[in-house]
Amino acid sequence: MFARFRRKRINPVLRDLLQETHLNVNDFIYPLFAKNGTGIKEEVASMPGVFQMSIDEIVKECGELKKLGIYSIILFGIPDTKDSVGSDALCEHGIIAQTVREVKAAHPDMFVVTDLCFCEYTDHGHCGVLDPVLHTVDNDITLDNLAAQAVVHAKAGVDMIAPSGMMDGMITAIRNGLDEAGFVNLPVMSYSTKFASAYYGPFRDVAESSPSFGDRRSYQMNPANRNEAIQESIEDEKEGADILMVKPALAYLDVVRDVKNNTSLPLAVYNVSGEYSMLKMAAKAGVIDYEKVMMETLLSFKRAGADIIITYHAKEAAILLNK
Ligand code: PBG
Ligand code: ZN
Repeated sequence: MFARFRRKRINPVLRDLLQETHLNVNDFIYPLFAKNGTGIKEEVASMPGVFQMSIDEIVKECGELKKLGIYSIILFGIPDTKDSVGSDALCEHGIIAQTVREVKAAHPDMFVVTDLCFCEYTDHGHCGVLDPVLHTVDNDITLDNLAAQAVVHAKAGVDMIAPSGMMDGMITAIRNGLDEAGFVNLPVMSYSTKFASAYYGPFRDVAESSPSFGDRRSYQMNPANRNEAIQESIEDEKEGADILMVKPALAYLDVVRDVKNNTSLPLAVYNVSGEYSMLKMAAKAGVIDYEKVMMETLLSFKRAGADIIITYHAKEAAILLNK
């Protein structure tokens, strides 16, 4: 006697009936990169299909996204000027605040998330204010700035804040800042378990956010650490995050499952730039069936335990799902 699993794989309708995990258009958040100007839509060489866009183009793009059924975006800003603290990010006329206001004015039904960090805005490219002695980000001064930045985004009308800087205590600081300013109903999606990953390489081209010296290993996590990965997300749950995240996704699906099983909040994964570019370049080289590999990859995130997928593939995947 042995089990006949294949009995249930022969009829395609039965196969569909028994499918355990499903991908939906409303699983996706689509990243967009905003810069000043008008009529600007510049493709990034390392990320085919991803653009730096001026705000008017982002507003147009949101119309296209809605036609595909994608109603969530996450915004990153590329400011005209950078300085040691990242002032553009703290200014209500900065690139992100402006983008949020214009997108929400044109598309009130679009759910607008902002990435909350300083690396795109500092001249040294690190995720906060530097400690001159330690030559790394000063955690506690940066917390005050993160809270201030969150309030700027909130006043501009953002729908959810997503802090990505891996500062200790960032959720407490941001939640307190938002609550004191009256934004008690604004959700926070924490990049709670974020690794110091080489998979962010292409993103730093598009966001112009590479550190000018050193790397991010003194604040982002060591890719080797499983227990610490779980603790990081548990801590953000305790601090009052509304949604947790594991980033990157593909090389960390074990961590996605660990975090899912050890917390009770909804979980996002960030299918990062390097993961996207690998598939794009493999497709260009003619070595994979791009659409099939993309859908298999996205499905694997759901199977691993993700509820939300932040992905540059969102539009392409939506077209296939809508067929
Ligand atoms: C900013 C930030 C990064 C990403 C999202 N937010 C880059 C980094 O930490 O260096 C990476 C996204 C991607 O690679 O697609 N802190
Ligand atoms: Zn950062």
